[in-house]
Amino acid sequence: MNEPATKPALPDDFTILALETSCDETAAAVVCGGRTVLSNIVASQMALHQRFGGVVPEVASRQHILSLVPVIEAALRAVPGGWAGINAVAATYGPGLSGALLTGLNAAKALAWQRALPFIGVNHLEAHIYANWLITPPEQPAAPPAFPLVALVVSGGHTLLALLRDHGDYTLLGQTRDDAAGEAFDKVARILGLDYPGGPAIQQAAQGVLPVGTLPRAWLRDSYDFSFSGLKTAVLHKVQERQELTVRSLSKATGGEPKTPRGRAVSPPAGASPVPLDAAFVGQMAYAFQESVVDVLSAKAVDAAVRYGAVAILLAGGVAANVRLRKELTQRAAIPVICPPLALCTDNAAMVGAAAYYRFAVGVQSGWALEVVPNLRLGA
Ligand code: KG4
Ligand code: ZN
Repeated sequence: MNEPATKPALPDDFTILALETSCDETAAAVVCGGRTVLSNIVASQMALHQRFGGVVPEVASRQHILSLVPVIEAALRAVPGGWAGINAVAATYGPGLSGALLTGLNAAKALAWQRALPFIGVNHLEAHIYANWLITPPEQPAAPPAFPLVALVVSGGHTLLALLRDHGDYTLLGQTRDDAAGEAFDKVARILGLDYPGGPAIQQAAQGVLPVGTLPRAWLRDSYDFSFSGLKTAVLHKVQERQELTVRSLSKATGGEPKTPRGRAVSPPAGASPVPLDAAFVGQMAYAFQESVVDVLSAKAVDAAVRYGAVAILLAGGVAANVRLRKELTQRAAIPVICPPLALCTDNAAMVGAAAYYRFAVGVQSGWALEVVPNLRLGA
């Protein structure tokens, strides 16, 4: 099936106000015709969660409540006529943190109900895939992706491969059996003493590194499933070995209580306050970890695309921002690899607006009773 995507029977100027609050970004966007981004406002809570090394659900919900109204107002200001130009309201209803999802879903339902507009609940994973349909003016519209497609969704909460035969027609081919790819980046960054979020930090630490060794890959033969927890443990063991070595050599050099190069006393290896790691070692670990993740993700995506006769591979989710992954996948695949622009890889509401348009175009509309579904699956 090489024809262009099915043309939805909705007017090209059908405009949706979309909200996204599934994790730690409060976002609102206005999207016209399922593709054109009229506004895309994201209030990131990253700084708020950074000191905890990960997202704190209760803190996220409270911040969404504070940020939602200004973010929605900012998104509407960019639309001529404001509300008068809006034909429907959409919001993510899962998967994600239940308290966080509730804030955006309830706000969207209330806004739609008050203005007698259709309301469309959107699956966050589907939304990530639809980031590949978006065009941000003045960028010129390209043809929309044609079907069948293989999508690789790699985010902080999910890692999956799916076959898309048409809009809304998903077959889940495989998913992670433990950590999501982004979660692995975040946890390994923490082990290496790098900042949160771990993905950009590891990418930066790995840049320009001359490789000296490799880390294991969990291939899970004859399956499109993934596993990253063994790789994370392998990094942890290497770090512990390194710390033991450092303690021993410092102890020898000082002839007594081990000291760091700056003279501070160091704790025993694998303890709660670890021995500082040198930048060269951190770079090597970041490089080997990133290569291992990229190798498995690229190999499985390319294999699935060949097996199912896909005409393109879509990359989606926060980890799709990874430059090594984009490059490696593009080099290995014989078909086009389509990636959203960096700003649309991580959580945003424009992708929710795109997914909502194509759902509504095939007659899907949500009722006021729609609840959040924190563990919502793709295709459910
Ligand atoms: O899609 P997203 O914004 O949120 C979820 O739905 O989870 O993804 C966030 C994840 C984080 O784990 C972050 O470390 C990862 O995306 N990430 C990256 C990069 N930029 C963000 N991972 C690898 N390389 C990057 N450049
Ligand atoms: Zn996401």
